[in-house]
Parts: sequence; C-alpha cells; structure tokens
Amino acid sequence: MSDRLFIFDTTLRDGEQVPGCQLNTIEKIQVARQLEALGVDVIEAGFPISSPGDFNSVIEISKAVTWPTICALTRAVEKDIDVAVEALRYAKHKRIHTGIGTSDSHIKYKFNSNREEIIERAVAAVKYARRFVEDVEFYAEDAGRTDNEYLARVVEAVIKAGATVVNIPDTTGYCLPSEYGAKIKYLMEHVDGVHKAILSTHCHNDLGMATANTISGVLNGARQVEVTINGIGERAGNTSLEEIAMIIKSHNDIDIQTNINTQKIFPTSRMVSSLMNMPVQPNKAIVGRNAFAHSSGIHQDGVLKNVQTYEIIDPKDVGIDDNAIVLTARSGRAALKHRLQVLGVELDQSRLDKIYEDFLKLADKKKEVNDDDVLLLAGAERTHNHHIKLEYLQVTSGVGVRSVASLGLSIAGEKFEAASSGNGPVDAAIKALKQIIHRQMVLKEFTIQAISKGSDDVGKVHMQVEYEGRVYYGFGANTDIVAASVEAYIDCINKFVK
Ligand code: KIV
Ligand code: ZN
Repeated sequence: MSDRLFIFDTTLRDGEQVPGCQLNTIEKIQVARQLEALGVDVIEAGFPISSPGDFNSVIEISKAVTWPTICALTRAVEKDIDVAVEALRYAKHKRIHTGIGTSDSHIKYKFNSNREEIIERAVAAVKYARRFVEDVEFYAEDAGRTDNEYLARVVEAVIKAGATVVNIPDTTGYCLPSEYGAKIKYLMEHVDGVHKAILSTHCHNDLGMATANTISGVLNGARQVEVTINGIGERAGNTSLEEIAMIIKSHNDIDIQTNINTQKIFPTSRMVSSLMNMPVQPNKAIVGRNAFAHSSGIHQDGVLKNVQTYEIIDPKDVGIDDNAIVLTARSGRAALKHRLQVLGVELDQSRLDKIYEDFLKLADKKKEVNDDDVLLLAGAERTHNHHIKLEYLQVTSGVGVRSVASLGLSIAGEKFEAASSGNGPVDAAIKALKQIIHRQMVLKEFTIQAISKGSDDVGKVHMQVEYEGRVYYGFGANTDIVAASVEAYIDCINKFVK
C-alpha cells in the first residue's frame, strides 16, 4: 500500500497573516468547512494568544468542523500553551503546535540565548503541551538555516519529550530543493527514534522554491506538508496546497496518496481569493485563470487532435467545469442557491433573499453572472455595517476635458454632498470625497482588476491608504470601476473612522 501524505492547511494562520487579508470569524468558519470538504487532515485555525479574534476563531472553528484535526499555534511559552488548550476545548481532534527558533541568528538575536538552553526550552514546551493534549507538533523555526547536526539534536530531544510531529520550516524561503531534501534525509538517517514522529515540511516562497522544496522534502521522507490555498502567506507566501495535491495525483512515480478531493480545489481557491480580497495571478499553476487556456495556434491544434498533447491535468479534476450553468436575470433563487452551494457557501433563507435581490440588480447590468460575481455578492454584507456609505456618484469625463464628480455620502445616517474636478474620474471623485472627510490621508496603492472576459465584468479595486502613520486596506467591487475605486477608498476610511 502506498504511503499517506498528511495535508496540514495553514491558510487561516500563516495565510491570514497577510496585511489586508484578515477574515472575521464567520468567514473563517466558511473557509474551515470548505477545507473539511476538500479533505485536509489538519486545519491550523490560529494563534490564540495573539488576539481575542484568533482565540475566538479557534473556538468557533473547533465547533464547526468534525473530521480534521484542529491545530493552534503557540510559542514555547507556558502561557501560550494554556491559552491554546482553552481555545481548543471543543475540538474533536486537537493539536498544539509549539516551537522556537533554532538557527544561530534566532538563538543569538531573538532569544539572546545559546544552543543548549534552546533545546531545554523546546523540550519543556513539548512536555508541558503533552500534559493537555496527545498530539503535539514542534516547529524548529528557521530550520532551513539551522545546521543539520544541531537540528538533529533538537528533533531527537523533542521526539523523546513526546512530539508526534516535527515541523522543519524553511521560514525565510532560502533553501534550494536539493538542500532542503538533504536536510530531511539527514534527519531521517541521524535522529534516533525519528519513526516515532512524522516530519513535516513548511516552506516559504521567497525565492519561488516553496513547492519544489516541499516535494523534495516528501521524496526524502517527510509525510506531512504545511500549505495554504493559492499559496497565500506572508511576503511571497507559503507552498500552495493545490500544487502539491496535483503533483502527487498526477505523478504515478511518487507512490504516495493524499485525502484531497481534488474536484473541490477550484471552488476553494475562488472562495479564499474572494473572502480575502486577494486576486489569484492569471498564470498561477492549477487555479489561475489561464492555467488551462491554450492560446497559441500550435497548442490549440494539438489539443483539438488529442487533449493529452499539451494538457497534463483534466481541468474537471480540479473542479473547473466549463459547462457550469451560467446565471442570468432569468435564473431563480434555487439556481443561485445551488451555485453558492457548489462554491461552498451555505446561507439561511433571509440572507439568500437579500443576495438574490442584489443578484437581480447585477444581472440587469451584466448579461451573465459568473462565479466571481456570485462570491462577491455573498461577501458584500461585510460593508453593510459601514459607518460611511456611498449614496450616489456621478462623474463626467472624456478626452480633452477635465473630469468632474459629484457624490453623496451617508455618515452614521446623516447625508453629505460635494463636487470636485480632477485629473481623471477617480481623482475627481476622491477629491470630492475629501471635501466631506477632512483627514490627512495618502493613497499608497491602487490596483484595478477585472476577473473574466467582457467589458461588463465586475471591476475589483484594492487600495491602501496611509493615515496617521498606519496603512489601511480597502476593497471595492462594481461594474463601474470609478464607483469600485470610491468604494475601496471608503472601505479604507471605515477602518479608522468609527
Ligand atoms: O514559517 C515559520 O517558521 C512558521 C512557524 C511559526 C511554523 O510559520
Ligand atoms: Zn510560516
């Protein structure tokens, strides 16, 4: 029988650390349920001591899912472990993920300590966590830059102390695949008792090698991989779940299996992208818009003759269904509900009724409503409690004329109006907005994106606005990109004006 590779998803912990991608508890539960349907083995649900929000999310996710193990992150500190134990109290299967930096630079600069003391702290943390839970994972932070001999001593000591899984993170994404694979091999060969635990990979993508490093780790003996949906995560991100799952599925020469239901990959990717307002790059492997689009004549010809000429994965295997029902203004509530369910969104009747109303308005503007639009509508309630709301916006612009915008805002229910000219429609609209909201704000980043084909597509705008030394992230989506831009700006302002 082939070996089993355990999939540890950290979208809701390492992935969620990305600025601007934070989810509320309800959204996290939605993602966790989708991860359960996808078949992940472990969900890292948060770092409970870091904030009340994380603490609460671990509790609620523990209640919401049944099969996956729920994991909570801690430092090698008793108080962290106490709080994690408390947050995991409802989990049917629970794991504490504790650890400490082991590279010389972490030992010296982060902890002002020495190698022996770090081993003692690591062992003490694992033993302490084992008093409360049977499943304890230890991470040797910056293992990628830790010398192998010392790392082997750490790993051996924590396994003796009771660690069931040992995570070997390439925290900075520095390792070459050959180097990372050799590290895992070294541990497999030199750690006494290594078979009493599972070695885990945790690779960051700073040099674009996260997936290659993870696979190299697996080929050398690691049997758990730590991954995120769409590869999201701090800086350049983490290893992508979808890439690992499809490498394992399509390479018969790797005699290993995962529990992933690959047909759920695409809907999960869309859900995470939409809830986190994090676009997926078009050429992203497996889930990018162009991942299965053959545009050159030679490729198209080959694919028409036999699809295997240029396609190593059947798009249906990852849940891309070209024949999916397209929603239009004539679609009923049942069709919308079904589409939302396929995309992993379950709604009660009153929310469905509200979304259906918004759907009909959008379907009047667009001929066909696609999955991205549907997910946007489902996530739109995030703005319902906004203190400041856009009531109306009118813009005139063109070539050879200065743009003019007038807009109306409602601020805590009170109405305000202003007008301004500007260097383009967005500039005019934002200048009008600033006449009502007198704050020293600086627009730092402004990205406009249309997801699919068609001039009637919904434009998504991501913005960053600096105010009093802090940067706030905002998002807007509308078939009118000027309106989407103003909505994104208002979303930023709502984060600091209460
Ligand atoms: O990258 C890393 O080292 C981590 C650990 C906290 C597991 O995320
Ligand atoms: Zn990490």
